[in-house]
Amino acid sequence: QLADRKGIRRGKLRLGVVTTAKYIAPELLAAFGQQFPGIEFAMTVSNRDEIIQRIQNGEDDLYVMGQVPDNEVDVEAIPFALNPLTVMVPRGHPLTRQKKPVPLHAVAETPFLIREPGSGTRHAYLRLFEEQGLRPRITMELSSNEAIKHAVASSLGISILSIHSLALEGTSGPIEVLETEQFPILRKWFLVYPRNRQLSLTAGKFLDFSVSQEPFITNRLVQLWPELARYL
Ligand code: PGA
Repeated sequence: QLADRKGIRRGKLRLGVVTTAKYIAPELLAAFGQQFPGIEFAMTVSNRDEIIQRIQNGEDDLYVMGQVPDNEVDVEAIPFALNPLTVMVPRGHPLTRQKKPVPLHAVAETPFLIREPGSGTRHAYLRLFEEQGLRPRITMELSSNEAIKHAVASSLGISILSIHSLALEGTSGPIEVLETEQFPILRKWFLVYPRNRQLSLTAGKFLDFSVSQEPFITNRLVQLWPELARYL
């Protein structure tokens, strides 16, 4: 192990992560950096389509994404942590006074804030609406989870986001998780790298470390949103 530490003492790690993972990746880097000091980190945050392009161009050592690319590029994908999507509404929204769980059609009929094309989150919930024969009433498109949160808090509409996006403010702040039929969508993240590329020692260590953190991440999610325990 000592030799391992030595081997990666001056390593550099370039990560490419989808926007939902930006809420968790810095903490992982911090904990990893404590075990392996002296590593230089760079992290690029983009939506799913842009991360796939980065994989194709070989821009980073390791990637975190929700839905593994199918045909675009040949990758190894290691499942890593839960990324549940939930319906988010401003606190006290009329839907919160309906009988729970709120039916999905009621969500589809409410002004909806949607992520940009290329977002894996968008893809996941549009597929759910489509499977249920529904179409959300889209009133605004925003290319950032944070912009969507502020728009929800400003009562511009409701949306669907990763529960991780509430990590700092919690679920009793200005944004409320709405208990809805078919939710949460229990997505997972994967640690991904191109199959034709040898992982660096540093990237391999970070991969193992991240996988080992899964139970702690799940625990933290349950603390953030206790209802999650019902679906696990
Ligand atoms: P994204 O995040 O919506 O920014 O593409 C992706 C994901 O969690 O799949």
